[in-house]
Amino acid sequence: MPETVILCPVDELSSGQAKRFDVAGHRIALVRTGDEFHAVGDRCSHENYSLAEGEVWVDEREIECPRHGSTFDLCTGEPCSLPATHAVPVYEVTVADGNVSVILP
Ligand code: FES
Repeated sequence: MPETVILCPVDELSSGQAKRFDVAGHRIALVRTGDEFHAVGDRCSHENYSLAEGEVWVDEREIECPRHGSTFDLCTGEPCSLPATHAVPVYEVTVADGNVSVILP
């Protein structure tokens, strides 16, 4: 049964910022690009590094792993460059009443 979980107020992140949340066993990187929010699995698919600590590429809608530099598409979770070859999970995001929420599967 999908579950909607509030992560934070909209203004907690500015464009180009990412933040890690641990909710209900999911490790999530919430990322803001402009007025859009994206939620992807925070654990790089190459090794266990936190994507939320990486650089956000706002125009490309990608986040760069801080360890070896793979970038991940924030809309699909797919890696855009090596060494990562597997996608990270993507979570649906909703914004309501000034809060950002994710829908957990
Ligand atoms: S740990 Fe992320 S690219 Fe290697």
